[in-house]
Amino acid sequence: MFFSEITAYGHYLPETLLKNDDLKKIVDTSDEWIFSRTGIKQRHIAEKKEFTSHLAIKASEDAFNSFNMDPKEIDCIIIATTTPDNTFPSTATKVQNYFKISNIPSFDIQAVCSGFIYGIQIADSFIQSGKYKKILLVGAETLSKIIDWKDRRTCVLFGDGAGSLVISSSKKKRGILASKLYSDGKWIDSLYADGGPSLNQKVGKIRMVGQDIFKHAVKKLSESTEQALSECNLSVKDISWFVPHQANQRIILSTAKKLGISEAKTISTVKFHANTSAASIPLALASAHKSGKIKKNDILALCAIGGGLTWGSCILRV
Ligand code: ACO
Repeated sequence: MFFSEITAYGHYLPETLLKNDDLKKIVDTSDEWIFSRTGIKQRHIAEKKEFTSHLAIKASEDAFNSFNMDPKEIDCIIIATTTPDNTFPSTATKVQNYFKISNIPSFDIQAVCSGFIYGIQIADSFIQSGKYKKILLVGAETLSKIIDWKDRRTCVLFGDGAGSLVISSSKKKRGILASKLYSDGKWIDSLYADGGPSLNQKVGKIRMVGQDIFKHAVKKLSESTEQALSECNLSVKDISWFVPHQANQRIILSTAKKLGISEAKTISTVKFHANTSAASIPLALASAHKSGKIKKNDILALCAIGGGLTWGSCILRV
């Protein structure tokens, strides 16, 4: 029997910072409005010629260098992204080409902000099957490129970045203990991009009914976390760190409260990174690991919700 252990964490944020006060020059908004409703103070923005693959490569290099790993050890690459460089080929094949790792599978997955949680379950299933031993899983986004910069209801919420994990096969019963995934296409109109290759041959911009998302988020995130805990016979009191998708501080704290998890045990980076979709959980994980918060044997509860709607949770032992 094989278990999925996390053996490396990495992250990358583009250099350019866009603060709430800078947004006042673009749309009719204020730092007070944005911070009080979302907890966001700033976001990182990729350069025009900086693509999602570049962010993914830098986050992967950070993981390899920080954990003294040779990229050639990787035998599968999965990238969760909603903002790939091209319609095709996948961003994962670009990352594979950069590291010159031939003859391994590499592919992108698209579940919007839940992409990383979906990726974790896919990676875990691959490891459990014995097929792969060291999977590079990256969440990478350049959402700034699909934001409607004239729409103040959405442009203040998002940012760019990438986070990575190496998920390795282990004989020890640790790593990913349970994961639950869900979707309900009934809510496709609550959050979507109004373009696509088949629809109108455009990339499209983000459109969102913010209150719908808020309403679903707290309920679905708390329920799926409880279901994942129950699957591995753990309870909320066993959780060392709660690492939810970093969409909005009010959603993060309301979900933690509903689950009975204190703010002190909740990892939040939304103030500094804003919502980076599939990158938000690995970015939060890598930041918390680098700062020494996350330690060996800690139990982590991860959860995310995104367009579709898609959502899910994962429980793991570090
Ligand atoms: N600056 C100033 N005023 C604004 C802004 C802004 N950036 N955006 C909207 N407003 C105005 C609106 O125009 C409206 O004014 P009006 O009453 O004169 O028409 C007023 O503020 C209230 O607008 P609402 O949309 O009702 O604001 P609400 O209190 O619901 O807050 C928010 C909006 C923050 C988006 C909230 O609905 C929310 O947190 N939703 C969750 C959505 C989310 O986090 N999405 C992230 C992507 S999805 C995901 O990752 C899961």
